[in-house]
Amino acid sequence: MTDYIRLDSVGCTAIWETRPDEAPLWRYWGPRLAEDAMPAGQLRDTRPEPSFSLHFDQPLSVFPGVGLGWFGQTALLAHRNGGDWAHAITSCAVEPVSNGVVFHLTDEIAALTISIRAVLDPETDVLTLSTSLRNDGDAPLDVQWLAAGNIPLPDDAQMVRSYGGRHNGEFVPIEDRLSRSLWRRENRRGLTSHDCFPGAVVECAGGVAYGAQLAWSGNHVQQIEWLDDGRWHWQMGEWLAPGEVRLGSGETISTPELLATCSGEGANGVAWAFHRAIRKHIGWPGGRMKPRPVHLNTWEGFYFDHDLDALKELAAAAAAIGVERFVLDDGWFQGRNDDSSSLGDWWPDADKYPDGLEPLASHVVGLGMEFGLWVEPEMVNPESELFRAHPDWAMQIAGRPLLAARNQLVLDMGRQDVRDYLFEQISALLRALPISYLKWDHNRDLAHAGNSPRYRSQVLGAYALFQRFRAAFPDVEIEACAGGGGRIDAGIAAHTHRFWTSDNIDAVSRVSIQRGYLQFMPPELMGSHVGASPAHSTGRSQSMRFRSGVARAGHYGIELDLRKLGEKDLARLSAGITAYKQSRDLVHNGRCWRGEGADGISWLAFGDPSDLMIQIIRISPQTLRFAPQLRLPMLLDDRLYTIETERQPTITQYGGWLAKSGLSLPPMKGEDVLWVHLSLA
Ligand code: DGJ
Repeated sequence: MTDYIRLDSVGCTAIWETRPDEAPLWRYWGPRLAEDAMPAGQLRDTRPEPSFSLHFDQPLSVFPGVGLGWFGQTALLAHRNGGDWAHAITSCAVEPVSNGVVFHLTDEIAALTISIRAVLDPETDVLTLSTSLRNDGDAPLDVQWLAAGNIPLPDDAQMVRSYGGRHNGEFVPIEDRLSRSLWRRENRRGLTSHDCFPGAVVECAGGVAYGAQLAWSGNHVQQIEWLDDGRWHWQMGEWLAPGEVRLGSGETISTPELLATCSGEGANGVAWAFHRAIRKHIGWPGGRMKPRPVHLNTWEGFYFDHDLDALKELAAAAAAIGVERFVLDDGWFQGRNDDSSSLGDWWPDADKYPDGLEPLASHVVGLGMEFGLWVEPEMVNPESELFRAHPDWAMQIAGRPLLAARNQLVLDMGRQDVRDYLFEQISALLRALPISYLKWDHNRDLAHAGNSPRYRSQVLGAYALFQRFRAAFPDVEIEACAGGGGRIDAGIAAHTHRFWTSDNIDAVSRVSIQRGYLQFMPPELMGSHVGASPAHSTGRSQSMRFRSGVARAGHYGIELDLRKLGEKDLARLSAGITAYKQSRDLVHNGRCWRGEGADGISWLAFGDPSDLMIQIIRISPQTLRFAPQLRLPMLLDDRLYTIETERQPTITQYGGWLAKSGLSLPPMKGEDVLWVHLSLA
């Protein structure tokens, strides 16, 4: 007996064909279908047997097996001491759940139970897939690969855009044409990584785009393989090291969630679905996001050079221009004068802070700001009291060198005693001081993950520690940082409230980094700071107006020594803070569009089609004699808009004109930014 399972959201539809004795077959995943648009009959009836082919046709299912007639990438690679390696589903039961289904599958021959959960959020248009696998055999099952989800892409898919980069250069777009082959990207750095974001966007003919991202902060694989029927098969999951997962009899492993979406509005539609879904992942203190406070972070202004009086002066200068949260970065704890020592010794440095952090924290809070503190819990320097006491807590492989990076090693977060130590040390500070924010850093890749590989337990252990802090201190917000943007993903988003997007604060670099980030993550979580000029990471100099205007696209902050700013720059920065505060509700709560105009213009729009803040950026000087018109396609055709900018008199114009002919821009020089407010007149 064949059945169809169908899930719908506002913008997407998923349809599977199910039978009691095999894995459900994918019939459709794409933009929303009309209710009566259903398959005309069984898929196999539409696929006569091609020459030289197996008599039993095997289209793409939710759990493609291995060794039994499916020749593509498989959902599972596993064996029992070399046996039970071939897999095919022998029974399928379907359990309805809210907005979705769980497919309960078994392979009676290989003694496996598999559950695939598929939930299509009717509001966000995001299909969340996850898979769990139980070993029902008597012998241990070695698992080499278990996909979080398997999804089809239509035969007119053309190009996949993923993101690469490095420290100081995150979210570099990589566009690969899809062809009759396998496209694959892997990350084996032990955390999300700067150079391989766990997600991608696929562009199809006619402007439809598909997106997927893995909610996981560790090693991962994403791959797209061409199929014999012209479609493509998209998979994502954890990259597992050899021997990493061995399931004892009766044991289960569950994958991270795969978030997938599609949109007739291309990559912007995909971004909107992801933003809405990630917003639902965030656990805000009190259940609601408060306006994102203006930050002052001490790092680039002070580095390790902490002087209590100077920091107090900085705090006073910050409060005077409207800063709302003061974050004391690296350099505050015992013996930490450079990056060669002390990670793990989480108590205030006795020389720099003879009376602890209380005098500074109280000063900051007394000025009306929140006080935040930097920590890097998962790390230890060999030169530390912690390492001297517990050298075995650092991940290592017997007989191999300890491979340091930034002079530090990685603690084994799978160990309860390690997590207990970190929780006790840091929670003592949280209990004693008015700390309402932690910036949680992670400044190296995980190379040698234990004698038997413990990448996966490292991520799960870190998540457990985040959860413990969140449960014990529900009012404390946490920022996810990993040398800038090395741990930006939907998995860590469930435990944190802000991403530090990049250590590169150069505003020119930030324009493309922020655009890439916004493909997957919403603007209110995007830490974006005004840095010094010249920028420390690139040596380039930009005006205060440009630095501040670029930073306003995210969660605004300042990362320089305010005391050194000249009067004019201080006034411009202060005006930038005021403008940010006026626009943050629109920027942080609505939709975000990314677009490009003629002659090198790029833009971001935030809000909804009736009320928008538009950030217009020109990096290189104009080459046209006259400024180009900027078309804003999301505007309502027949509605009159008021157009306000700081550089032109306020005017009104119809949305249709602005969408199809375009907004007249003032002349803009190179490295220039213009914010425009468009609202219904
Ligand atoms: C890397 C982070 O990205 C920086 O913002 C800063 O916190 C340093 N670590 C401190 O060591």
